[in-house]
Amino acid sequence: MTFLSATLDRVKPSPTIAVTTKAAELKAAGRDVIGLGAGEPDFDTPQNIKDAGIAAINSGKTKYTAVDGIPELKQAICAKFKRDNDLTYTPAQVTVGTGGKQVLYNAFMATLNQGDEVIIPAPYWVSYPDMVLLAGGEPVAVAASLETNFKITAAQLEAAITPKTKWFLFNSPSNPTGAGYSWEELKALTDVLMRHPHVWVMTDDMYEHLAYDDFKFCTPAQVEPGLYDRTLTVNGVSKAYAMTGWRIGYAAGPEALIKAMRKVQSQSTSNPCSVSQYAAVEALNGTQDFLAPNNEMFVRRRDLVVDMLNAAEGIVCPKPEGAFYVYPSIAGCIGKTSSAGTLIDNDETFATALLEETGVAVVFGAAFGLSPNFRVSYATSDDALKEACTRIQNFCKGLS
Ligand SMILES: Cc1ncc(COP(=O)(O)O)c(C=O)c1O
Repeated sequence: MTFLSATLDRVKPSPTIAVTTKAAELKAAGRDVIGLGAGEPDFDTPQNIKDAGIAAINSGKTKYTAVDGIPELKQAICAKFKRDNDLTYTPAQVTVGTGGKQVLYNAFMATLNQGDEVIIPAPYWVSYPDMVLLAGGEPVAVAASLETNFKITAAQLEAAITPKTKWFLFNSPSNPTGAGYSWEELKALTDVLMRHPHVWVMTDDMYEHLAYDDFKFCTPAQVEPGLYDRTLTVNGVSKAYAMTGWRIGYAAGPEALIKAMRKVQSQSTSNPCSVSQYAAVEALNGTQDFLAPNNEMFVRRRDLVVDMLNAAEGIVCPKPEGAFYVYPSIAGCIGKTSSAGTLIDNDETFATALLEETGVAVVFGAAFGLSPNFRVSYATSDDALKEACTRIQNFCKGLS
């Protein structure tokens, strides 16, 4: 349809939302569906944070605020970066948006010109390439492999850099694999970036606090201070604080970039929700005591899912360092036929057959740029996970 913009032809709607919608439709039709597609914690926002939001409403903090965040929140964000990441920022180097998603989008809109390349390790969060395309840039996927636990190597990064590279987009722990780069692994990548001064680093640290066992989170500007002047460090409260619906994300970086991002936001959405900003101040400044018990729960669920999926015929599932996802390979299932007669010729047919034949909703790997795999979000109850993994095991047993 010519009325719609040509730019829109370059992007696809979010496949993770498509899976959630399809699962909801089946459920509404009376099917027994277990959704392992959603990327959000299954527990509630902590009470102290909710109370801060309620207090904000009751005290009339319900008007427009400064376009990219109230001073109190910018201060809290500066304190968070110092406390958690040993990074020093002033409020003028900080921007707050309607979720990490808007902050990433603003950054691309503010910097990309036609033909500018953005290096994105695959598998990647579904929105990255499409955001780049919407902003007129070119996503350049660099495929990690199961053998390297879904992490790219320094040699791969080096080979992907061209004179047109504008950004290297980094995400650890990762959605969709949960893979987390150690200090040494990240240092190998930052060493490459130090040799290419025209490449900027956008790091999406959304899953920072969801780090397990002895894995220690680290971020590029911390590992290589030489990159500080060309790094945008993006983070948010959605995942660790169970605040997905409040829509607050933030970033810190060079002041000129932050100013440009503010300009984009000022002509699109203006300030993020005032009430949510006050709740986010409490999230960052208040107690962090609930993070550790939540992580214990996530570790238990991760181990349960990894063990049960590895026991399924044809599936290989690495144990990731963080986030709440696993990304098993189904290479051993390809070419087989399900007991209901579906030929499994790629990961999309696997996920569709799994949903239709067993009621388990997962997202197929092609959506994240690396096949044949699927993503499981284990941010749901132990009982639901056990039942879902049992159904996956039976589905795989039925393949011939
Ligand atoms: C890697 C990654 N970055 C950013 C986001 C966006 O988070 P927000 O809810 O803050 O927009 C998500 C959400 O799924 C994510 O997985």
